[in-house]
Amino acid sequence: MALWKSKTTGENAALAAAEPNGFAGASAVDNERSHAVEDEQAEHSDAEQAARDAERKVLFQRIKEELHQQVISRLDLSTIGTMHEDELRIQVRREAEELLSRRKDLLNVVEREGLIKEIIDEAFGLGPLEPLFHDPDITDILINGPKVIYIEKFGKLSRSNITFSDDAHLLKIIQRIVSAIGRRVDETSPMVDARLPDGSRLNAIISPLAVDGSLVSIRRFGSKALTADDLIEKESITPEMVEFLAACVEGRINILISGGTGSGKTTLLNILSGYIPEDERVATIEDAAELQLQQPHVVRMETRPVNVEGTGEVTTRDLVRNALRMRPDRIVIGECRGAEALDMLQAMNTGHDGSLTTVHANNTRDAIGRLEMMVGMAGFDIPIWTIRRQITSAIQLVVQAARLTGGPRKIIAISEITGMEGDMLTMHDLFLFKQTGLDEQRRATGHFVATGLRPNCLTRLEASGITLPTSLFEERILKF
Ligand SMILES: Nc1ncnc2c1ncn2[C@@H]1O[C@H](COP(=O)(O)OP(=O)(O)OP(=O)(O)O)[C@@H](O)[C@H]1O
Ligand SMILES: [Mg+2]
Repeated sequence: MALWKSKTTGENAALAAAEPNGFAGASAVDNERSHAVEDEQAEHSDAEQAARDAERKVLFQRIKEELHQQVISRLDLSTIGTMHEDELRIQVRREAEELLSRRKDLLNVVEREGLIKEIIDEAFGLGPLEPLFHDPDITDILINGPKVIYIEKFGKLSRSNITFSDDAHLLKIIQRIVSAIGRRVDETSPMVDARLPDGSRLNAIISPLAVDGSLVSIRRFGSKALTADDLIEKESITPEMVEFLAACVEGRINILISGGTGSGKTTLLNILSGYIPEDERVATIEDAAELQLQQPHVVRMETRPVNVEGTGEVTTRDLVRNALRMRPDRIVIGECRGAEALDMLQAMNTGHDGSLTTVHANNTRDAIGRLEMMVGMAGFDIPIWTIRRQITSAIQLVVQAARLTGGPRKIIAISEITGMEGDMLTMHDLFLFKQTGLDEQRRATGHFVATGLRPNCLTRLEASGITLPTSLFEERILKF
């Protein structure tokens, strides 16, 4: 209480100084000069209003910061951690309401409510980020320092008007988010990758590595993972392509999903994993568990980064090797980016057919190049043709995801690996998206086509009792 009182005195003085003095001298206006003054005032009124708004914002911010301090100092901190969050929120609200009720003159009811909400968010939630997390349409939040925050909605990136007070404020929120899930970020380990309780993925990098303030990238994932129907509705893929891919997953064809950053690889991997029959044992390996498999027999594993002492790292490769001892029917690897490629190919070649993974590449041919390089990273001196032979026998399909101009994400190619010609690996395209131009919003437009080529893997599908109509592959433009 004493703290609150002493602060109030200082605060009132500060508030008085901050009060706009717009009417100074108004009573002394001379009648004859009043018109000229009015004109002049009209000119200035916009600027004055803006100045008043700005002042009000500063005032609001100051009351908020002080109130925040007071509320925290009044709380019995020892109960935090034992109390349920809802209870804590109620207690904070009670304190804030009481403190504010003594200053009814300063803020109107709406402002007061807004302030209380902000303080609660500040105290326990994600601060300025809280409203962004409540908006289900936001898919990405990109923070470039305390004052520049971008959000992505419906595939379009735009600058948000939300800001943090300064980098210390931003850092406090980052630390709150990551410490809640048992990770840490500070000068000695200034990078962190974490999965939030709602399933979203967060990467933060702070000073001294980030030069102009902390950088945070949040990929919202959580609540509703996209389904095949969603992708069809968004015209990201056609029903024919889904029918084919679903049959391939069911029929244990090994599939590699390729794409750039944020192109929709994980989303497609999640959808395709959904077609794995329920009676199979699936092992999933990811850096940050994003997949949401609904089957009952799924064992999930997550890699672990090095700890502060520089030890304790568990890589995808370690987990792939371990998974092989767990008798899975299939292995789903979130992303293949290194030496694990070799172990994965071997697994695909030795009884774990129907495995799925993703790789970072710009087209289906590049994806093979990337795999070759990654197998090379395993450290054995394997001749390139042996690697290619192994890829050819391990992987049957490569599916390309892409984020096109203006934001739309599409599955732009489904290609099949057909074999080897000499030292070269051969592929053909079964389905393609052909871009024809841009619409008025400068978003890519075009159409999907079936190329007319009959997949070689149909024989394999038939062997496992899956028959697809040959009409599915007839050369044509695919309509929605
Ligand atoms: N076809 C689609 N249409 C619209 N949004 C999509 C589509 N596919 C994915 N998204 C959204 O795009 C974002 C990125 O998707 P996803 O995480 O699958 O990409 P990624 O290629 O795995 O990214 P990264 O390279 O970061 O791993 C997500 O918010 C996801 O919901
Ligand atoms: Mg991904």
